[in-house]
Amino acid sequence: MEIIVAADPEAVGHVAAHRIAQLVRRKPNAVLGVATGSSPVPTYQALEKRVRDGLDVSRVSAFALDEYVGLTEGHPQSYAEVVRRDVTERLGLDPERVHVPKGHAEDVPAACEEYEDAIRSAGGVDLQILGIGSNGHIGFNEPSSSLSGRTRVKTLTPTTRRDNARFFDDDLSKVPTHCITQGIGTILDADVALLVASGEGKADAVAAMAEGPVGAFCPATALQMHRRAVVVVDEAAASKLKNREYYDFVRDNRPIWQL
Ligand code: F6R
Repeated sequence: MEIIVAADPEAVGHVAAHRIAQLVRRKPNAVLGVATGSSPVPTYQALEKRVRDGLDVSRVSAFALDEYVGLTEGHPQSYAEVVRRDVTERLGLDPERVHVPKGHAEDVPAACEEYEDAIRSAGGVDLQILGIGSNGHIGFNEPSSSLSGRTRVKTLTPTTRRDNARFFDDDLSKVPTHCITQGIGTILDADVALLVASGEGKADAVAAMAEGPVGAFCPATALQMHRRAVVVVDEAAASKLKNREYYDFVRDNRPIWQL
């Protein structure tokens, strides 16, 4: 796991966007996995700037990590809408190439299988952008999730529902109880996993993910098993890392062929 500490959320966004832009330049039809929530917003903003400066994303496809179950189609807080606003429109992606699990489908388990098939048909995800929950979830794989699970329906924890109530007028009763999420097995299939986190509220989860034992109680620890996991965090989110000196040394002494 490569751990890069940047000064603040904006700097996190720049480092992450640089990695994504490098991929898109190398592979113009790259398949991105996209997270919603607050953490990746500075990354999408920094990427938007690169697109304005000429980065061609016309052939890029995207697959969202997750979606609430039970919200009406077009609900402003459905991830389909969040992805449309924060990713598709911001970056000018082709909407036909952007996919979100169908949380409003009549047959939700079938929609989960179709989603896995669609990712496979696209040739798999080249780079998966991730945030981390304060409880260590990635996607909506809550603590105790299978570390080899595929896209399926999950029940949200009280912690996640409370954390996300800010998007639902701070009214817990409006926060859905269920979601569709890519499984950890699905996430680990991505060629590169790029996790971004900022703020003190993520410090415990980041330390557990990077330095704790691998286990379903902190699903993000599964990234320790990923061959190319990159974690970009700000100072506050990095504040509980024990091995910090080494991470900075690695960052400041990247071999020339990796620059
Ligand atoms: C969102 C997702 C979640 C969030 C996590 C952090 O698609 O899969 O895992 O990344 O809950 O959310 P924020 O960034 O809002 O703190």
